[in-house]
Amino acid sequence: MSPHNQIHTLLHVWYRENHRFLPWRETRDPYRIWLSEIILQQTRVAQGLPYYLKFIERFPSVLHFANAEPDEILKNWQGLGYYSRARNMIKCSKKIAQEYCGIFPTKYSDLILLPGIGSYTAAAIASFCTNEPIAVLDGNVFRVLSRYFGISNPINSPKSKLVFTELANEFLDQNNPGLHNQAIMELGALICKPANPDCSACPLSISCEARIKNLTSSLPVKLASGKKKKRFFNYFVPNNLDTLWLRKRKGKDIWTELYEPPLCETTSETELPPVPDFFKAIEKNNVPTLQFDSEVTHILSHQILHIKFWKIDASVLTLDPNSDIFEVGINEVKERYAVPVPVMNYLSKLLATNGVY
Ligand code: ADE
Repeated sequence: MSPHNQIHTLLHVWYRENHRFLPWRETRDPYRIWLSEIILQQTRVAQGLPYYLKFIERFPSVLHFANAEPDEILKNWQGLGYYSRARNMIKCSKKIAQEYCGIFPTKYSDLILLPGIGSYTAAAIASFCTNEPIAVLDGNVFRVLSRYFGISNPINSPKSKLVFTELANEFLDQNNPGLHNQAIMELGALICKPANPDCSACPLSISCEARIKNLTSSLPVKLASGKKKKRFFNYFVPNNLDTLWLRKRKGKDIWTELYEPPLCETTSETELPPVPDFFKAIEKNNVPTLQFDSEVTHILSHQILHIKFWKIDASVLTLDPNSDIFEVGINEVKERYAVPVPVMNYLSKLLATNGVY
């Protein structure tokens, strides 16, 4: 018998009475659970929910997902950020189509081998679908366990992950692993919040070390993360707005495989970026002029982007035919091409003032 029996009962009663109605909790379909769990990584429920509903409608099964054009998946993902999640989902769905005949696996040991599925997601799918007894460990669970057991190991150090993984599995209710995992995550989301936890409503409070020792505001401990890298982006758009130039981002950087206007990245802020080589003057002496249009700061998890948009006189230039830049109608961008959020915001504003969108 587990020493945590009583507290499990309190946690489960609390969950049954207080949990939010969320569509991915009404199913045992591993595809739907996978979709929700990947969307909800680094995304709040309120923001993720409409994306989940849209994906389920447009791609009702893993085979629909695997057979879709990658650009369509990325377009539907636009705005969620962390695009590597979507790229890995494409790889994962194709692997399931090929190696599992399109039947989504539910065993932890199979799931963990799939692209983009780490220990958290594999545990979530396995325990929610088939009650496989493996504890989930996400930010909410780290916080609840750190406070409940009074553990001051920093939650973002790799060494602590082992400590917390063991603890989470020791604390797991072996009789109801799926329910237990949902309940502890929900407790972290609704009660045991990062700031001002509502201990008076918490089913774990009678034996919570942090509450008893008045440590809730100092637990969990988190190591300070490094400084964010600053980057300076200059985007070029034509001064007539019927068309736009786009190119697909490549390589291992942010926004891989999204589309963006031609870019000149500089190492520091610039008052006037150089006119990039891929723009060729039609007449030798008629060099295209740049006109500053607007700027925005866009903050990512590890980078701060200082982005400037420049209009360039399209009537006096051609594009280098060897470049990978292509021209598209302005409305097509909205319909078909996944572009980074700051670019979409810029285009929407621009077109709203020009009365196009
Ligand atoms: N965040 C991550 N997974 C979740 C889930 N299954 N329900 C609610 N929030 C979540």
